[in-house]
Amino acid sequence: MKNVLVTGGAGFIGSNFIRYLLRSEKDIKVVNFDALTYAGNLESLSDIAEDPRYLFAQGNICDEAQVNEALHEHQIDTIVHFAAETHVDRSILGPRQFVETNVLGTFTMLEAARTYWLKEKGQPVEDVRFHHVSTDEVFGSLKPGELAWTEETPYAPNSPYAASKASSDHLVRSYGHTFGLPFTITNCSNNYGPYQFPEKLIPVIILNALEGKPLPVYGDGQQVRDWLHVEDHCEAIHLVLSKGKSGSTYNIGGENQPANLTIVETICDILDEIQPKSEHSPHRNLIKFVTDRPGHDRRYDMDTHKISAELGWHPRHTLKEGLLDTVQWYLSHPDWVSSIRQKQEYQGWMDANYKSR
Ligand code: NAD
Ligand code: DAU
Repeated sequence: MKNVLVTGGAGFIGSNFIRYLLRSEKDIKVVNFDALTYAGNLESLSDIAEDPRYLFAQGNICDEAQVNEALHEHQIDTIVHFAAETHVDRSILGPRQFVETNVLGTFTMLEAARTYWLKEKGQPVEDVRFHHVSTDEVFGSLKPGELAWTEETPYAPNSPYAASKASSDHLVRSYGHTFGLPFTITNCSNNYGPYQFPEKLIPVIILNALEGKPLPVYGDGQQVRDWLHVEDHCEAIHLVLSKGKSGSTYNIGGENQPANLTIVETICDILDEIQPKSEHSPHRNLIKFVTDRPGHDRRYDMDTHKISAELGWHPRHTLKEGLLDTVQWYLSHPDWVSSIRQKQEYQGWMDANYKSR
């Protein structure tokens, strides 16, 4: 791992991962390859922008020429592929972009890697790696009493987002099987933490609560997610890159499964505690049940025995501490938040998603 191309490095997890990688590896070059869609934000990397080991290359994963140029120019030996359309609600209102970015974009990345590493350079396969970052949503939804998903669980994606990620996982696996492209895949549960785009549940709830706005809970709020602090996810990916077996997939999860309503109530209680004089306390009074997400998955639960047994990974953050840190991070980064929230695209999305609920 010398010259690493991180796709989607200006997004939530990608930006945290680049920071993590620069902290963990001394002799490394990290190229952030990102199209800067609505979800990409270079301000999330302002603290490391001047690091000589880091550089930004604006580019689209669907554009073959741009991808090829980045691989050649920086002599990339490792690709960590985060770039994607990631919001389930957006995939319901506009699925096409998900197929284009997540399926065709991943295909373009795979073709470019195969051509550069295996055909042109004839690189020893132990020297290169395509790491694909995927999601637990490919497994569908668990009924009460069903066991947590393992790496052997058959895929059953329910949303256009999940289906597009499942397709991309299959493509990656097929490039390993057919062409011998060295790859690893991680399927991770819901992340939270610093720099998460403020259209996902946790930042929406924190920011609305601070302003005394309604806290939208879809349906009955009893849907269960498996929450993981983003730093723990970054550590897991780094471990898989350094010690994971080529050709393997690994599940990553937070080892906790609260209902969405519990998450929302916990954030309200944290704000009551750290802002005792807030005119909006008790913040739980702001909770508003709204129309459910169509096809809403009920429950996720990841079995993480493989990554803990093989690589010794465990999440370090408890949900309680992680949520407190996250609330404090959003409180202490008002400029980062307002630079996104003032954009027309953001306001348009919030209206489109919430006004008719
Ligand atoms: P995000 O939406 O915050 O960021 C996505 C990034 O990808 C943005 O910087 C965007 O500009 C970039 N991008 C989008 N289309 C692109 C294109 N065509 N070319 C180049 N760049 C493009 O996403 P995130 O939440 O950080 O998720 C990153 C990855 O992790 C995704 O693959 C997602 O499926 C996966 N994942 C996310 C979670 C989660 O909870 N957020 C959990 C498991 C897996
Ligand atoms: O499970 C991993 C996935 O987690 C990732 O693959 C996705 O990229 C990521 O966006 C996330 O998907 P979710 O749909 O689970 O995340 P979101 O934050 O949108 O929603 C979390 C839960 O909260 C979900 O059950 C829907 C619910 N929700 C969401 C929003 C935005 C609400 O109740 N109210 C809301 O306003």
